Amino acid sequence: MRANASIKTECTSAAKSIILLYYKNKYKGIDMKEQKIAVIGCGLWGRNIVRNFYNLNVLEMVCDLDDDNIAKIKELYPDLKITKDFNDIINNPEITSVAVVTPSHTHYKMVKAMLESGKNVYVEKPISTVAQEAKDLKELADSKGLVLMVGHLLLYHPAVNRLKMLIEEGTLGDIVYAQSDRLNVNYFKNDRSVMWDLAPHDVSMMSYVIGKEPVRIISAIGSSTDRNDIMDITHLGIEFEDGVIGHITDSWITPRKHVQLLVRGTKATAILDDTLPEHKLTIYDNFTADNTKNITLDYLEIEPLKLECQHFISCCETGKKARSDGDNGFMVTKILEQAEKMMLGDRAKKLDEVDFGLSRVKQHL
Ligand SMILES: NC(=O)c1ccc[n+]([C@@H]2O[C@H](COP(=O)([O-])OP(=O)(O)OC[C@H]3O[C@@H](n4cnc5c(N)ncnc54)[C@H](O)[C@@H]3O)[C@@H](O)[C@H]2O)c1
Repeated sequence: MRANASIKTECTSAAKSIILLYYKNKYKGIDMKEQKIAVIGCGLWGRNIVRNFYNLNVLEMVCDLDDDNIAKIKELYPDLKITKDFNDIINNPEITSVAVVTPSHTHYKMVKAMLESGKNVYVEKPISTVAQEAKDLKELADSKGLVLMVGHLLLYHPAVNRLKMLIEEGTLGDIVYAQSDRLNVNYFKNDRSVMWDLAPHDVSMMSYVIGKEPVRIISAIGSSTDRNDIMDITHLGIEFEDGVIGHITDSWITPRKHVQLLVRGTKATAILDDTLPEHKLTIYDNFTADNTKNITLDYLEIEPLKLECQHFISCCETGKKARSDGDNGFMVTKILEQAEKMMLGDRAKKLDEVDFGLSRVKQHL
């Protein structure tokens, strides 16, 4: 059954601003040209960022070290300026802002250099795998009055924002539990663990949707099918403010994709299934198995990454803090650092010595 009058559809929260921003910028186009953005890293994910900033008419330059990845960009966008040296970005005063889409172990140095040169920075998740580094970056951005935004994509997802509105309206009652599963296949494993690769999405989304910050890690276990310390399946238990419990499972080895968020309140339970092409969000009555009481909700179908890129441009134009700002990045890194310590103890330090390579594409294990 689709949305009906029994569910309030009024938008009461900041979550609706992301949708309004879409419409505002859709007809604004030309003003966005005030921003000139460079993208560093055009690998598997970076290509999507390049496509969005290009289509938003703000992309000035792309930087990558890899000839094959550069060739792909040249083929698609023959008019774009390309460089292999990120100093060309630093030394170009016309470039106002930079998107860092390189592997996570390179983020700290790259972001620091860009902020020091006076550029606003969008950095992919995780901002860093070291909480102190995340804190340093956020403080550096604040001290220079620059925008620092982390690619916590799901904060810009229309269905996630629809769910947040429902929770704020009280439709689910008081929130008592949340569970996020993100299971897929990743052959490249170019990260310290699947947790560092995927859980930044789960933690940031859960905290955003329920409106509570993580307080502590209750449990953290993981295993590696390669029999080393690079975990490819992880399970986290997190206590959020007000005693709300969150469970997060991430996997790099699940051939059948499963991406689902469950939020249980005292009245009803929501499930957001992000593997569905549409109608991802359904509300279930807690106290009856009567299917007719379940409601599938509508929301605007807009590519979350486009909304995220628009948000970054808007923050650069206005100087406002991003929804997924440096504080948000620090919060996520801090809790995941605790989880890694609980999982690996002193062995976590040894992962600092692993050479994770500069490109997933080139590093097939
Ligand atoms: N938000 C999301 O949903 C999402 C999805 C996938 C990946 N990501 C994130 O995006 C980032 C990149 O992931 P990916 O899958 O595109 O990786 P990738 O390995 O496919 O691409 C990384 C690119 O960065 C380039 N690079 C590395 N060091 C460089 C340097 N010093 N100068 C210039 N270029 C350099 C590499 O040559 C490569 O082309 C990671 O932080 C990852 O976690 C986010």
